[in-house]
Amino acid sequence: MSDKAYAVTPEWAGRAWIDDAKYQALYERSISDPEGFWGETGRRLDWIRPYTKVKDTTFGPGEVSIKWFEDGTLNVAANCIDRHLATKGDQVAIIWEGDDPSKDETITYSQLHERVCKFANVLKAHGVKKGDRVTIYLPMIPEAAYAMLACARIGAVHSIVFAGFSPDSLAGRIDDADSHFVITADEGLRGGKTVPLKKNTDEALERCTKGGGKVLVVRRTGNPVPFKDGRDLWLHDELAKVDADCPPVEVGAEDPLFILYTSGSTGKPKGVLHTTGGYLLYASITHQYVFDYHDGDIYWCTADVGWVTGHSYIVYGPLANGGTTLMFEGVPTYPSPSRFWDVVDKWSVNVFYTAPTAIRSLMGAGDDHVTKSSRASLRLLGSVGEPINPEAWEWYHRVVGEDRCPIVDTWWQTETGGILITPLPGAIAQKPGSATLPFFGVRPQLVDDKGTPLEGAAQGNLVLLDSWPGQARTLYGDHDRFVQTYFSTYPGTYFTGDGCRRDEDGYYWITGRVDDVINVSGHRMGTAEVESALVTHPKVSEAAVVGYPHDLKGQGIYCYVTLNTGEEPSDDLKKELVKHVRHEIGPIASPDIVQFAPGLPKTRSGKIMRRILRKIAEDEFSALGDTSTLADPSVVDDLISNRQNRK
Ligand code: PRX
Repeated sequence: MSDKAYAVTPEWAGRAWIDDAKYQALYERSISDPEGFWGETGRRLDWIRPYTKVKDTTFGPGEVSIKWFEDGTLNVAANCIDRHLATKGDQVAIIWEGDDPSKDETITYSQLHERVCKFANVLKAHGVKKGDRVTIYLPMIPEAAYAMLACARIGAVHSIVFAGFSPDSLAGRIDDADSHFVITADEGLRGGKTVPLKKNTDEALERCTKGGGKVLVVRRTGNPVPFKDGRDLWLHDELAKVDADCPPVEVGAEDPLFILYTSGSTGKPKGVLHTTGGYLLYASITHQYVFDYHDGDIYWCTADVGWVTGHSYIVYGPLANGGTTLMFEGVPTYPSPSRFWDVVDKWSVNVFYTAPTAIRSLMGAGDDHVTKSSRASLRLLGSVGEPINPEAWEWYHRVVGEDRCPIVDTWWQTETGGILITPLPGAIAQKPGSATLPFFGVRPQLVDDKGTPLEGAAQGNLVLLDSWPGQARTLYGDHDRFVQTYFSTYPGTYFTGDGCRRDEDGYYWITGRVDDVINVSGHRMGTAEVESALVTHPKVSEAAVVGYPHDLKGQGIYCYVTLNTGEEPSDDLKKELVKHVRHEIGPIASPDIVQFAPGLPKTRSGKIMRRILRKIAEDEFSALGDTSTLADPSVVDDLISNRQNRK
């Protein structure tokens, strides 16, 4: 091994589903015979009509079409619930841990079955049918999982909008999905503070031009909220009117399961569409092997169901495997920075999966908050969402895992549906900061900017050469944009948007986005979205946004703002602009730094040279490179002398 590595222990090699020999053999098979490998693996799901076709995929050039198990039919809710009832009816499916540590609930598979069936009957009673899009804007409460599974049970397509998004963002997503049914709560509760979800939904619906319809409201805090008769429905009233008999609908493997909006390099979020059979299979197999999940394990992923991690690794993967999944309403630091470890001890969590930003913030709070807990139940740790710096990795390993727990650093994306590059804990030695090696069926390649493949140890752009079952099939309503975004940069391959290095051992090290997407606290954000929000402020003429390295968040949001003629820069105006962006997009998009700039560096054809802005934001302006192509090179001097991130 070329770098510091943590070898697989004999104990792990012995107990894990996949050891080194199995990894080698299965990986080899999955690449040389994908039809055979996935054809067999697909049988882990319960099919209503078994498939006869396995893989029919092409990445172009030209047409892009991705189909798996095309002629099979199944139901996702039946796979996640009904098929476990005979053997696991009384086993806990979901452990819910409230924001307030004294509030919790356990839900068995039998209870989950009853609740999801009733929930589905409420949807049906209000006209929701197969193929309809249902928008879910909920906090981390069990009803979020019931709502997802209820949609799946009747073949409706859910579109979850993270509860931290603003009314405007919600409205855009309701309209884009042409959704006519919204599920929300009176309020959310996080870190002791309420989030006005119903109020936001009301505001969003006022702005919708296409979508809208009925609003089903979960009572969470019980505080009074406005209610519109004829449109708004209380979930508890509706549940009282229905029974628990709801047969699962037969759904085609390639029928849509959900839409999930994510940021790209343009201002408009993309509705990533996942379908039924391949997605569930991939979520299930990766959950079992990456987390080495065995019956009876208590598994906790700290993500929110508003992101893809919550979809695949809180709800669909663990439940498809008949597992016990913990769902946490709160935040890592409330009521204290010991909260994660208190919860681990309270429920004897065995597998714990979180994001580097949380690890870094808890590392900063001091080891005492960790070491006063036992954590004896922990066996495996995971990381997702952004590159983990080796220092945070080592701390996670040494302090949280007491050198006993392997760490799976899992690289994937909303578009990939499930984990693509990761160590398997019984098979692959870990190196701090590396996502290591591809999962079964995954064919990574590095290419230079011209698309030429790079062999051996190299650094370049990460593309994938072939499809895997969990891959997104299209962008909702915009297949051209799907093809353009992912398959046109390096024709014939799926371009991830990530930069990556491969070392002498063939290990992959993701270096971060190479497009205009930034990763702030593990949340993906298009710089163009923040720019669009800034220019809607009446005093702003122009804005350019870039990421810069941030100790806790991974990347921070740095905004260069040009004001309209006659407007005066001031600290108050900076604060107002930060508030404005939070209001337009949501608190996750809060600018960290605003710099007023009389002019932006543009080429003669008017293109903003972001490379220069990135360097200045990083305080690395001695290496600006060639500025001679700028229409007005003198703007750079002003930008440098007024830079806001002096190290
Ligand atoms: O840049 C990569 C980063 O997060 C991006 C995907 O973001 P999103 O679609 O929101 O999904 C996040 C959760 C799967 C990727 O393009 N990323 C994700 N995981 C890692 C990562 N970067 C480095 N290491 C990871 N383990």
